[in-house]
Amino acid sequence: MFDFLMHHRIQSWLELAAEELQSALNRDLIVEEKKSASDLVTEMDKQTEKFLVDKIRTYYPEHKIIGEEGIVDEEVTDVSGMVWIIDPIDGTLNFVKQKNNFGIMIGLFYDGQPVAGYIYDVMAGYLYTGIVGEGAFINNKPIQLKQYQSIDQSLVMGNVGMFVNNIHNTQAVYKKALGARAYGSAALEVISVIRGEASIYISHALSPWDFAAGYAICSSLGMKVTTLENKPINILKRSSVIFAHKDVHQEAINLLNPTE
Ligand code: IPD
Ligand code: CA
Ligand code: CA
Ligand code: CA
Repeated sequence: MFDFLMHHRIQSWLELAAEELQSALNRDLIVEEKKSASDLVTEMDKQTEKFLVDKIRTYYPEHKIIGEEGIVDEEVTDVSGMVWIIDPIDGTLNFVKQKNNFGIMIGLFYDGQPVAGYIYDVMAGYLYTGIVGEGAFINNKPIQLKQYQSIDQSLVMGNVGMFVNNIHNTQAVYKKALGARAYGSAALEVISVIRGEASIYISHALSPWDFAAGYAICSSLGMKVTTLENKPINILKRSSVIFAHKDVHQEAINLLNPTE
């Protein structure tokens, strides 16, 4: 099971991986297109995922691993036991274009339930961790969840296209809020909610590696995590997600799912 040694190891792996990403920004990257011109992968996405997978395989060979770049080729088809979910670079487009605003994410789940989450904001040098039952931390300093703020008193996080195209009635949330903010990285958008800068994070469609770490960290802070239809999230499937304080969560669910 999860223990302090495991936590300590993950933190040290992330420190090493972050250093490698920072130094890669000083040289030319090998950039490939996946499904479109905005869907990129670099050698550093693959290298970082391989580094983390090799470490997990060495220390926890019986655990299951899901990663965006497919370094592990066996598909995980059931959630039993410990499942690691890795996004080696979240915000690859930012990594290539901005050399900023990207993160490394790891979510750990046991029998489908969140155990711990890690989001490393690499250029800021902040590691956000959440351990369910223990709370959340920024560089090991405990985070206090900010007081509840209703949607009309707060900023909301989510991607631009979703709000512009009113996917799943998300404009209702945007219009009620003081404003919406987006970084082009789910990792950094979730961090904004963890830090209390925004009240809610919404996405209409994320892959498990995009939401796993945030799901676990928000759970460790007692926040509510569901799909936009207010259903539990399946960690093996692409899904919509909403992360929020429980009162804000209900307010958003009502706006996203009008009855008439
Ligand atoms: C992407 C980012 C982006 C989100 C996309 C993700 P990637 O992750 O998190 O903010 O809108 O859906 O795919 O591909 O850079 O790891
Ligand atoms: Ca990607
Ligand atoms: Ca991602
Ligand atoms: Ca990624």
